[in-house]
Amino acid sequence: MENNVLIFIHLMSAAIAVGSLAYCLLFFLPAMEKLPEEKTKEEHRVAYKALEVLAPTVLAAVLMLIGTGIYYLLTNYTRQVDLAPGYYNLFGVKMVFVIITLFLSVYHTFTLRARIANLDLSPENREMVPATLQKMKTFGQMILATLTGAVFLGIWLARF
Ligand code: HEM
Repeated sequence: MENNVLIFIHLMSAAIAVGSLAYCLLFFLPAMEKLPEEKTKEEHRVAYKALEVLAPTVLAAVLMLIGTGIYYLLTNYTRQVDLAPGYYNLFGVKMVFVIITLFLSVYHTFTLRARIANLDLSPENREMVPATLQKMKTFGQMILATLTGAVFLGIWLARF
């Protein structure tokens, strides 16, 4: 039962992270870019708001994945025997994807997002907004790619 709950949270976090990145970067923002140019302040524009919410959402989901993954291993360590040869090789490759995803997501949230946060308090950062949003989109795509790799390896691992 406990394992089912842990894997359920693990999978839901993966679904939220991949789903929100895919929806925002592949469908929502390209559709919004086709609308007439917005005349409001930078911090009230659609792309700014969308990416401002996306970055911490993905980071929270990645942290949840790491937390539930480690907890799952800790509570099942006595069962982690007689595994097929190569299980831990695959696990190691998955961890490489996870670590890259974590670093990218931390940079996305705490460097890129923070650079253009609170524009009312730091109006001098306003001119950095277009370039930073573009960089956030690129980093979001990179996170989507590494996260998808980790999901694929996770599924493979569970059936190895
Ligand atoms: C980006 C982060 C991660 C993603 C996207 C991810 C994704 C997945 C997925 C999709 C599964 C398959 C579940 C199933 O089909 O039943 C899985 C299983 C699993 N994950 Fe993760 N995971 C991540 C991080 C971690 C971490 C950090 C750990 C541990 C340190 C971990 C440990 C496990 C374990 C032990 C399983 C079950 C494998 C088995 O049944 O043999 N995961 N993961």
